[in-house]
Amino acid sequence: MQLYEVTDKNKTLLHNNDKKAKKEFETNNMMEPDRQFHFINLCKELILDKKSQLGRNLTYCVVTFGCQMNAHDSEKLKGILDEIGYEEVEDEKADFIIYNTCTVRENANLKLYGHLGHLKNLKAKNPEMIVCLCGCMMQEPHVIKNIKEKYRFVDIVFGTHNIYKLAELIYTYKTTGKTVIEVLDKSDDIVEALPQKRKYNFKSGVNIMFGCNNFCTYCIVPYVRGREKSRKPEEILAEAEALSRVGVKEIMLLGQNVNSYDGGISFPELLERVCKIEGIKRVRFMTSHPKDLSDELIEVMAKEDKICKHLHLPVQSGSTEILRRMNRRYTKESYLELVSKIKKAMPDISLTTDIIVGFPGETEEDFQDTLDVVEKVGYDQAYTFIYSKRTGTPAATFDDQVDEAVIKERFPRLLKAVNDNNNIKRYEGLIKEVLVEDINGQDQSLVSGKTEENITVHFKGGSDLIGQFVNVRLTECKGFYYIGDMEDK
Ligand code: 5AD
Ligand code: SF4
Repeated sequence: MQLYEVTDKNKTLLHNNDKKAKKEFETNNMMEPDRQFHFINLCKELILDKKSQLGRNLTYCVVTFGCQMNAHDSEKLKGILDEIGYEEVEDEKADFIIYNTCTVRENANLKLYGHLGHLKNLKAKNPEMIVCLCGCMMQEPHVIKNIKEKYRFVDIVFGTHNIYKLAELIYTYKTTGKTVIEVLDKSDDIVEALPQKRKYNFKSGVNIMFGCNNFCTYCIVPYVRGREKSRKPEEILAEAEALSRVGVKEIMLLGQNVNSYDGGISFPELLERVCKIEGIKRVRFMTSHPKDLSDELIEVMAKEDKICKHLHLPVQSGSTEILRRMNRRYTKESYLELVSKIKKAMPDISLTTDIIVGFPGETEEDFQDTLDVVEKVGYDQAYTFIYSKRTGTPAATFDDQVDEAVIKERFPRLLKAVNDNNNIKRYEGLIKEVLVEDINGQDQSLVSGKTEENITVHFKGGSDLIGQFVNVRLTECKGFYYIGDMEDK
């Protein structure tokens, strides 16, 4: 492949609408990310023209549903939109509205349709408005069919494999005026080095891998995010170093299952290397599958001070039989053994989890096993979900789906067990280092931040503390968060 460079000469040719040059651009012989920078430049011109024609700025709003991966993807979308000249606003009345969707559970889908419902009227009032949908939900053929049939005002649609192409898709839409739908089955490459706009300038997510190979029988992620692909350690480290140079102190390594990272070195080795970057003070990671959490990882976590002593270890169910049917590849006993091993190496570790209630075939006895695990482990936080049937997953075809009435009866019992066994109270009275994130939304005299255990603490302070590490005494436990007092004033 030929390397394409965006030069001033090329740009001038383009602006002169030189057909030959344009054709050259349209051929697919540019390498990424240069090709996208090329489209970013083209869009910049279009947006500039539009702004002077309208005599005002053009705005965008990115609405994100779902997990940390999606939140991080949205930072990439925002980076591109900023670069091409849109201005970010929080309002869905923006000139460019983009929904980065999630489909892990049915209610995420319903939420999107709810938003789209009132968008049609907004679009009728603003002829400049472009409506764009992307992310996991767009990887499902039945969703695309529905959008084509019922939401014809949607202008641009793409999936999880080509978010880096946002500028190219906008350019195609703007120059053809036709709806652009580009949903790919898989991605060939990992496109690096495109712009990103971070929510915080002192902490950042860094993708280490994409996709998932685990095929838990309830989960749609492997179908919509594709097979596992690890980034090269050099790329990850270069990104982390660049982030540290611009003041980032905390890094969250992101992957659906970080323990199966395989970029030529293992995940624990990668962690060690990230810890060597001087400016980085805290390292976190998400998510760990219990089936392949290695002794080596526990060892590295225990010895590296920079690695936050927090582990999100989704159990999903406490019943060995349900875990087998979920294809989780561990048992109740092996999970509890793993927890003991982790606690032995790191007695102060904070453990959090995900739990699904009402997976097909779940009996009262199975559910009791889940309650038992909650009691035995003592999580600092557990995210609880009602099983949601996802079309295309094996569990959707299981014929022993649990009655809604039974699930409704179990769910509050699980919540009660999570609250009763919540281990977070053990921090009361302790002094913890908190990385301050924001002014508190409800009380402007307070700031909010996170301990290394990922526990939120609110305490008296001003905006000068944002991005700083401060010592805070955790004075009052409020369920899953703390009120504190700053120590080193
Ligand atoms: N129904 C309910 N919860 C689910 N999760 C994933 N798929 C489903 C589903 N079909 C939950 C799991 C996972 C978390 C991100 O979402 O607990 O860990
Ligand atoms: Fe889904 Fe299981 Fe992969 Fe997690 S590990 S994304 S639950 S298939």
